[in-house]
Amino acid sequence: MSTPRTKAARAGINRDKAFAAVVPPIYLSTTYGFAGFGEPPAYDYSRAHNPSRDITADTIAQLEGGTGAVMTASGMAAVTVPLLTLMPAGGTLLAPVDAYGGSWRVFDALARKGFFTLELVDFSDTDAALAAIERIRPDVVWLETPSNPLLRICDVTVLAEAAHAAKAKVVADNTFNSPAVMRPLELGVDVVMQSATKYLAGHSDVVSGVIVARKPSLLDDLAWWANCIGATGGAFDSYLVLRGVRTLYARSALAQRNAQAIAEALEANPLVNRVIYPGLASHPQHELAAKQQDGFGAIVTIELDGEQAVRAFVAGLECFTLAESLGGVESLISHPATMTHAAMPPEAQAAAGITPGMLRLSVGIEDADDLIADLEAGLGRVATI
Ligand SMILES: Cc1ncc(COP(=O)(O)O)c(C=O)c1O
Repeated sequence: MSTPRTKAARAGINRDKAFAAVVPPIYLSTTYGFAGFGEPPAYDYSRAHNPSRDITADTIAQLEGGTGAVMTASGMAAVTVPLLTLMPAGGTLLAPVDAYGGSWRVFDALARKGFFTLELVDFSDTDAALAAIERIRPDVVWLETPSNPLLRICDVTVLAEAAHAAKAKVVADNTFNSPAVMRPLELGVDVVMQSATKYLAGHSDVVSGVIVARKPSLLDDLAWWANCIGATGGAFDSYLVLRGVRTLYARSALAQRNAQAIAEALEANPLVNRVIYPGLASHPQHELAAKQQDGFGAIVTIELDGEQAVRAFVAGLECFTLAESLGGVESLISHPATMTHAAMPPEAQAAAGITPGMLRLSVGIEDADDLIADLEAGLGRVATI
């Protein structure tokens, strides 16, 4: 049972001591009986600990190469708990200029309340990021690679080393890759978090998050805060995430193959101004992605000629659903400026490189030929404008 794919496929199997159920049962009970006075059970109250949650957390921790994990109620809870855990009062957070809109919103809102100072940098510009770390000396460095929706890749090893030299803790958001594509803990970060809603669960039917720690002491602190504020995930949600994790590597391989084929087809089409995909040689950090990742992911960002072109393009799509989120078996398409990043004011969007003609594709596991035909039909509509 040594390879991650085998671990994922067999996650939780053979754990049921009562009836040898192949699939582990879901422990919905909120509370557990004491064997006697002063004899507490292994699990006492489900906000703090839950067997279903622990199986899922342990499995993901193994896949990420961490010491352990905390399942949270959402990806945003998995963003907030490490902040609460690691950020001293009045400290400084150095975050990506193009962070996920929801992450940016929580960083910005907490900074506005005066809890800490927020500084933003483009981490894909390694020299600028190293200079920012040196100058700002942040308490926490927040990495998101690839970034959303520009798919900028940052050099995790170099940045984590510099951050540690400046005595900062490093958190990486691995939502867009999942451990099937990249394991930031192996590249030196302290904490990796993910929206498990995406690739880990993989079927767009559960909102969940996970935080994985490299060191046991940090894991204890993260678990303490998650329990303290009640951010821990539900048992049923954890079960669904575990079910998704079993097929993570198979889904990821198929979706990445589709994404590469789509990116190549669209790059050859003159109606598309720009195709951003780390698996293309034209991607500015293609070589870095090849070095620090096991693949190139399944998100492709394209740029058309403004919002009118976007409207014509998405209007008749059949294999891509216009919807937020990503990482499911079905293909989705979103318009960052009006959807995922709508919380960012126009100036912040412009600073992050988000344009009105930009679309983000979350490529699923459908047949690549069907997906490409659907997108080419959309471009045919754009041509008639
Ligand atoms: C990169 C990234 N981080 C965090 C989140 C937040 O996750 P959730 O929606 O599960 O709260 C998302 C959601 O889209 C995301 O894309």
